[in-house]
Amino acid sequence: MPWMMLWAGGYPVAVAEASGSRVVDVDGHEYIDLCLGDTGAMAGHAPAPVLEALRASRGITTMLPTEDAAWVGEELTRRFGLARWLFTLTATDANRTALRIARLLTGRPKVLVYSYCYHGSVDEAFAISVDGATVSREGNVGPPVDVSQTTAAVEFNDLDALERALASGEIACVLAEPAMTNMGIVLPEAPYHEVLRALTREHGTLLIIDETHTFSAGPGGCTQAWGLEPDLLTIGKAIGGGVPTGALGLSADVAERMLSAAEADYEDTGGVGGTLAGNALSVAAMRATLGSVLTDDVWEHTIPLATRFAEGVKNGYGDLPWNVTQLGSRAEYRFEPAPARNGSQAHAASNPKLERFLHLHALNRGVLLTPFHNMALMAPTTTASDVDRHSEIFAEAVSELT
Ligand SMILES: Cc1ncc(COP(=O)(O)O)c(C=O)c1O
Repeated sequence: MPWMMLWAGGYPVAVAEASGSRVVDVDGHEYIDLCLGDTGAMAGHAPAPVLEALRASRGITTMLPTEDAAWVGEELTRRFGLARWLFTLTATDANRTALRIARLLTGRPKVLVYSYCYHGSVDEAFAISVDGATVSREGNVGPPVDVSQTTAAVEFNDLDALERALASGEIACVLAEPAMTNMGIVLPEAPYHEVLRALTREHGTLLIIDETHTFSAGPGGCTQAWGLEPDLLTIGKAIGGGVPTGALGLSADVAERMLSAAEADYEDTGGVGGTLAGNALSVAAMRATLGSVLTDDVWEHTIPLATRFAEGVKNGYGDLPWNVTQLGSRAEYRFEPAPARNGSQAHAASNPKLERFLHLHALNRGVLLTPFHNMALMAPTTTASDVDRHSEIFAEAVSELT
């Protein structure tokens, strides 16, 4: 898979086994894993209840629902508040489906996203704003059409730009991470979310909140923690304990409008759905993960660990003009004096060579960080001594640098 080429060292470490917060490579080296499959293994690697549920499953895929689907739907409603759920195999697919539903229900052509967002391999989202114009993000591989036809990109935390774009009347939906997580962690500045919700309602634009990474904020992501009221919500990765799955939540109103759109072919070739989506294994894995592994109390353990990680990093870089941000059980350091306010600022402050050095230094000392940036994620199986080991080697790396 192409992303594996990004690991520091020129080639990826080949894995012999992964369990809890440990990965062992084929040469027998053991690593403390703070990458956790870039969130896919937020529940820890191969959690016992998930393995047990997979073993106990009496069937794999039938293109029919199982009883677990009802349990998972109700649990997602309890956590995130949305009334109805549709399963996919990835968060990317949940986002693609959400965009189609939004365009159908509003009859509008465009999606609003934030510059340097990431929502999976979703064509409409590879857009940035340059001097007020929406252009393709660098490196976009074979886009189907010019992104300016499908997308309006604005900077995160810029309410004026948001309002101007919504006033065009062309915007079907805003696809937003509640805090940006793919260019470091960029937190919203109050009252961003209140105004975003009020403006989208005023302009008849649907609000899609992507909680795939921000699930780190708590058992119901930022939506529960910050009292957000999205029309649609997308999530994937962690909710299956590592087994491929995704989910799209629909408010009662959106579900009703969607199902009463007689012209839409949801059942067959209308462009929504996947043959293996909602399969028995994925749904059993979600039930085990949400019911027995990433339970509400887990964040009481993982959030303080992320705070400990952030403090360790701060002590390690000392007077260097760097910063560290935290979102629940996830923390990340960046090479600029203050946290970025939007994706373009964060992008401008990237330092790939320095990142490579720090990642390779950590890898050679038995710690895995996510290859894309400097993110560390805490699993229920992460311990304070795992975090302290990172703090120790991070301080060593900084002293070698300085
Ligand atoms: C916020 C967000 N949404 C969606 C996705 C897509 O997830 P997947 O690649 O599992 O489809 C990602 C992947 O990193 C993500 O960061």
